[in-house]
Amino acid sequence: MKILRDAAAVRTAVAGAGRVGLVPTMGAFHEGHLSLIRAARAACDVVVVWLFVNPTQFNESSDLVNYPRDEERDAALAAESGADILFAPTVEAVYPAGFATTVTVAGLGDILEGAHRPGHFTGVATVVAKMLNMVGPQVAFFGAKDAQQVAVVRRMVADLDIPTRIEVLPIVREPDGLAMSSRNVRLGADERRRATALHRGLVAAGYAASTGQRDAATLARVVEGVLDGEALSAEYVAVVDPDTFEPLTTVDRPALIALAARVGSVRLIDNMEVAP
Ligand code: PAF
Repeated sequence: MKILRDAAAVRTAVAGAGRVGLVPTMGAFHEGHLSLIRAARAACDVVVVWLFVNPTQFNESSDLVNYPRDEERDAALAAESGADILFAPTVEAVYPAGFATTVTVAGLGDILEGAHRPGHFTGVATVVAKMLNMVGPQVAFFGAKDAQQVAVVRRMVADLDIPTRIEVLPIVREPDGLAMSSRNVRLGADERRRATALHRGLVAAGYAASTGQRDAATLARVVEGVLDGEALSAEYVAVVDPDTFEPLTTVDRPALIALAARVGSVRLIDNMEVAP
């Protein structure tokens, strides 16, 4: 596996090599990332893993500073999982002096995560547009944990006619249900245990939906009740259309329940599709 730092080198390496798969990441790999790399390996001729802790999508400087970084470990795991190229650009290569263009997905980028993390999705959409232009992949692989990010990226790719297919892979969970996240390593032992309430709440709401509860506000309260049991309060619990993220009042078709909650100082998100 090659480690490359600039777009010109990546373009040369992938030129004429067939179907290019891109796995966008900010590093600190866990099984969720590795499942994306393996899926790209199975579907593509060349697998490029993007590793860049994108400063413009962090709205809290402490989160950026504390974000786990270990390129050597990530490179070993990416190679083992089948990557051909680890594209790990510098901040200057992504945002050179004079950089002045941003991509904003209006509406979808302003609600839920966007409302609680102002500027976050403009940072995400801009860097994803850049990486898709730099690498030119036929397919890009994203994880379903960042469901709103997927919706924002899909909207942007469609709106800007970017010729990349967006593939989404299921959330990978710890045995006790906690969604894998690079931020989980920052949870203390007690926080780690309490954090399982996010998944337990979603499962309880999923069960309620499957046994006849169609009222979205009631389903959100089921999730909140489980969080409450661990003295956690959600930043939001939203019952939305899985593609458009439009809020639903009645679950009369498949819906997504998405939530964010702080466990100690660590902000976690999770989601689950539920059906009536
Ligand atoms: O999901 C992530 O890791 C990031 O938001 C992404 C897509 C790599 C953009 O920086």
